[in-house]
Amino acid sequence: MYYPEALVEEIRAKNDIVEVVSGYVHLQKRGGNHWGLCPFHNEKTPSFSVSGNKQIFHCFGCGAGGDVYKFLIDYENLSFQEALKLLADRVGVVLPEPEEGGEAREREKRRARLLEVSKEAAKFFYYQLRGPRGEVGYRYLKKRELSDETIHRFGLGYAGKSGAELVSYLREKGFEDELIKEAGLANYSEKHGLMSQFWNRVMFPIQDRNHRVIGFGGRVMGDGEPKYLNSPETPIFDKRRNLYGLNFARASKSGNIILCEGYMDVIAMHQAGFTQTVASLGTAFTPEQAKLLGRYTENVLLAYDSDGAGVKAALRGIGILREAGLTGRVINMRPYKDPDEFMKALGREAFEERIRSAENSFFFEIRILEEQYDMGDPESKTKFHREIARKLCGFSEEVERENYLQAVAEKYHIGIENLRKLVVGYAAQTGLAKPVERPRQSVKKTGPEESGKRVQRLLFTWISDEPRLYDKVKRYISPQDFTDPLYRVVADRLFGDLEQGRYNPAGIVGMFEDEEQRLVAELFNTNLPKLDTLQEKEKAFHDVLLSVKKNSYEYYTARMGTDVDALTQAIKGKKALEELAKTHISLE
Ligand code: CTP
Ligand code: MN
Repeated sequence: MYYPEALVEEIRAKNDIVEVVSGYVHLQKRGGNHWGLCPFHNEKTPSFSVSGNKQIFHCFGCGAGGDVYKFLIDYENLSFQEALKLLADRVGVVLPEPEEGGEAREREKRRARLLEVSKEAAKFFYYQLRGPRGEVGYRYLKKRELSDETIHRFGLGYAGKSGAELVSYLREKGFEDELIKEAGLANYSEKHGLMSQFWNRVMFPIQDRNHRVIGFGGRVMGDGEPKYLNSPETPIFDKRRNLYGLNFARASKSGNIILCEGYMDVIAMHQAGFTQTVASLGTAFTPEQAKLLGRYTENVLLAYDSDGAGVKAALRGIGILREAGLTGRVINMRPYKDPDEFMKALGREAFEERIRSAENSFFFEIRILEEQYDMGDPESKTKFHREIARKLCGFSEEVERENYLQAVAEKYHIGIENLRKLVVGYAAQTGLAKPVERPRQSVKKTGPEESGKRVQRLLFTWISDEPRLYDKVKRYISPQDFTDPLYRVVADRLFGDLEQGRYNPAGIVGMFEDEEQRLVAELFNTNLPKLDTLQEKEKAFHDVLLSVKKNSYEYYTARMGTDVDALTQAIKGKKALEELAKTHISLE
């Protein structure tokens, strides 16, 4: 680890998770927990809980979860180091110079170097554009009606006639070849040595949300191929999780985000005052990007090209936005090809009007769908109506579905009752209308393995809610009773802590990363049965304990033939089971 664990722990302990999360999510206290609308998926009733006791968060809807660090890492898209820094600053802890060595530290150093070399390359291109050799590029940008201010704001540059110049410039600045290559700025060949693939292009530095250059797009001068050349993915350039223009768009107060296809589109839009415009990075729009947008707005306007490819991309985009719980509307660019051309021809006010009249994504889909059917042919027309019914089933909420049903029936002159019948028929046939699938929500398995794990989770939650119970159960239960490897590690640590009189669920959660951290937070947050009397509670607790024990006994019995330890465990388990069955555990 990069910082000593004690420090990580100290900073966690000083930052109350309820306070930190409250800075982002409106929370209300109910029972022992604080509740709010989950920032990691779209929902209308709160299933996002933050526990002040355990210092962890967990969403019962999408399964997101973790400690205070994890919250910031996910919410603010930070690295662990960045989250640590933020929380340290928040409580006035001065971080020591990080320890040398360690894998994470090395990675972080490497990333910093990659950022440096990218920034230096951007500078190089920037000055090239302004020098005598950059005239071609500068004239090109002027011809495309970009002002000097815009060119400066986006840090546009120029890569001249040779790919060797960038490389020698960077070498002079002290960057080693390996790094230049890793940053995606050049390739090595036997014949030419290290050479940049960027030449004869105007260069668009691609910045992350914090204005750091992470990659480049270069547009060829004239008609060469490919028209746009982009940096490859690198440790700092993740095309799925960044958006061109977001560094500016995130500060826009427009209440929506405009999504378009090209770098030039973004720039033209910003120049015209639409600073809420972003574009994906030479690749299709991704769910990760939708999630990112969801942090800033619910309303996304698609300003894709008006050609066939653009329409197809828009249809895909709509699906992805919907999945992320965002509302998409489609801007009609006709008769122009893209926002850049539209802006040049008609200007800002005309575009404002197009925003106002942007088409609801559902109607957009239906309209495109219609083109595939022949309304003069009854059979084809019926198919079209069925297809509409199928799409209506995608709305999980009845009111919403009904509203759309009425609107679409009216628009396409379909008898409303007939359409409703089609919807009901389709729903019955397929078990719809089912809830829109939520991201990351796992399908609930119900096999013996899953039910075994379920009681194990209940036990974790119960003990972490009432740590004093540990003393009452420790003679019956051990980490070996947890049949999932991850659970076993957690039990080992939790019981070890409790054994020494320590209680720190958030610390345990913080031992894990990513998906595992989410699962561990879940362990401490199962829904415990709601029980009124002490008797009921004792009975339920006893049942849980017994089930865990039974599950473990069966687990080891099944493995006895092949594993000596399993035999020992099974024998021990049998004894404990028998004893437990006749023991009353008081919860008083
Ligand atoms: N693109 C790409 N590689 C290509 C073509 C396009 O990565 N060979 C990406 C670029 O991000 C570009 C976007 O797709 O900005 C849109 O492409 P296109 O519509 O062809 O370009 P325009 O933005 O219209 O480009 P221009 O106006 O400069 O001709
Ligand atoms: Mn264009």
